[in-house]
Amino acid sequence: MKILIACYSWKGHTRTVAQALAKKLGASLVDIEPQGSTSPVSGGIKALLGLKGNIRSVGPDTKDFDHLVIATPVWSHNIPPYTRQYLSELSNSPGKKFSVLIEMGGSGAERVTAIIRKMMEAKGMEFVASAVTLEKEVDANQFDTKLTEFAEKIQS
Ligand SMILES: Cc1cc2nc3c(=O)[nH]c(=O)nc-3n(C[C@H](O)[C@H](O)[C@H](O)COP(=O)(O)O)c2cc1C
Repeated sequence: MKILIACYSWKGHTRTVAQALAKKLGASLVDIEPQGSTSPVSGGIKALLGLKGNIRSVGPDTKDFDHLVIATPVWSHNIPPYTRQYLSELSNSPGKKFSVLIEMGGSGAERVTAIIRKMMEAKGMEFVASAVTLEKEVDANQFDTKLTEFAEKIQS
């Protein structure tokens, strides 16, 4: 099974977890990169309002993969505008599997997972698993057990 992890990260926590997951799964990892000037304040407001933000093309197309993992932080109890843009651009996805990896300070993961599931299931994709890591766990490098369980669900 070919697995692609698409990751948006502003401060690096989500990327740290996504990189560790890619290593466990032997998966490819791509960054969702904002285009143009960005700030967490305007990004946070856009997230709150459910708006999208411009991104660069992020490389591998999902047509080359069987399973897509979306790795994203929670912003304003919602999805960062760049993750939302990536999800809205997804094509070649019907019938493919997906999983969701959420990184956050402390609250909002359940809502964000539900929003992402709705967007991807609307594209005909099949949900497999989700996991949540906390900023403090990543700072303390204490997320391996969670990540191993998540990786096992993805591979089962
Ligand atoms: C604009 C903005 C809004 C945020 N909103 C939330 C939130 O609603 N809930 C939460 O738990 N954390 C929130 N956070 C914290 C991030 O989810 C947390 O710092 C995460 O570790 C950031 O991941 P990153 O280092 O990959 O950017 C917010 C951070 C930013 C910059």
